[in-house]
Amino acid sequence: MQGRILVADDAEVNRVILHDMLKEDYVIEMAEDGEQVIDKLELYEYEIVALLLDLHMPKMSGYRVISEMKKRGWMEKVPVLIISGEGTVEAEKQCFELGVLDFIRKPFDASVVKSRIRNTVELFAHKNLLEQKVERQTEALKKQEQIIEIQAEQLKKEESFNNLMMQYRCAIMEIETKLKVLNEEFSQEYNRNPFESISSRLKSPESIFEKLIRKGYPITVKNVEKHLADVAGVRVICSFPDDIYRLAELICGQDDIVVLEEKDYIKHPKSNGYRSLHLILDIPIFLSKEKKYMKVEVQFRTIAMDFWASLEHKLKYKKDVKNTKEIVAQLKICADSIELLDYQMQEIRDKIDNDKNGRAG
Ligand code: GTP
Ligand code: MG
Repeated sequence: MQGRILVADDAEVNRVILHDMLKEDYVIEMAEDGEQVIDKLELYEYEIVALLLDLHMPKMSGYRVISEMKKRGWMEKVPVLIISGEGTVEAEKQCFELGVLDFIRKPFDASVVKSRIRNTVELFAHKNLLEQKVERQTEALKKQEQIIEIQAEQLKKEESFNNLMMQYRCAIMEIETKLKVLNEEFSQEYNRNPFESISSRLKSPESIFEKLIRKGYPITVKNVEKHLADVAGVRVICSFPDDIYRLAELICGQDDIVVLEEKDYIKHPKSNGYRSLHLILDIPIFLSKEKKYMKVEVQFRTIAMDFWASLEHKLKYKKDVKNTKEIVAQLKICADSIELLDYQMQEIRDKIDNDKNGRAG
């Protein structure tokens, strides 16, 4: 089907020229003044593929037509091209600021005008198609989010899900106790603590569901247990890098623990500078009727690495941060300085310790 073009000009001669020029490719509608433009736009709302608009017309100028179209939200639906004898750059600038797509000066060359109109019509149609696509995708995403929310709500009420969460909490307690036992022993024997603090978190139902979906698994209790390794998370903050490895070795060496995975981001930092030692451990919990192995993610970091990671985490979750590139580069420099600092502090500690031991002996 041919598109409809609305030609608005008070001079009949111009209308006739444009009509003859375009009649083979489009159905032409005419308007002699601004009011007729509005009437025709109302009549053919979705069929007009372009409006060729003169600026100086009786009853309603081209400028007023544009502001009326803006008010009614038509500028997004109909591409407007100005065809004007107005020669000033100011007028052209003003029109572009108002949202017109092209400004063609009279007198014009027929073939040039034809091409410019065709280009504008095609570009506009393409843009609209893309926008519709994005709209449809956004709509689909929203629907999916709603479905997830409903499924999540259902699961949260299920006993088996709440049971599983209880078991993860028990697994966290087991790991914490193991770490605290080591801390007790160390402080007794060596007069110092292998870690500064530990903190734990149970992943929220919402982020459990979001992660399952992201990985492409249906939301079921079984899939939570099978496919997620970080529902139970324990973070261990140490003063020095060698404490991290000593602690990790001691924990991994305990005969009831199975090490499922180790990611050493200290020896192999991420490209952004992130450093930590991650372990996925399988640890037994003893329930009234069974002994069950549960997965726990344990992250070991130094105080300085933790300081860095929490600042970097903020960048990830904050939208609309300006100068992101610069911040990422600064964070990388800080991460490298932190590595240097951590090992220098460790060296100093060793010197102090050796000194103490020397004096004692
Ligand atoms: P997630 O899907 O994020 O859990 O990643 P993953 O399953 O590939 O595991 P990975 O061991 O890489 O990361 C596990 C956790 O470590 C993350 O959830 C974060 O808490 C932390 N982490 C990993 N990479 C970074 C990082 O670049 N910056 C910060 N701040 N934390 C990180
Ligand atoms: Mg995680």
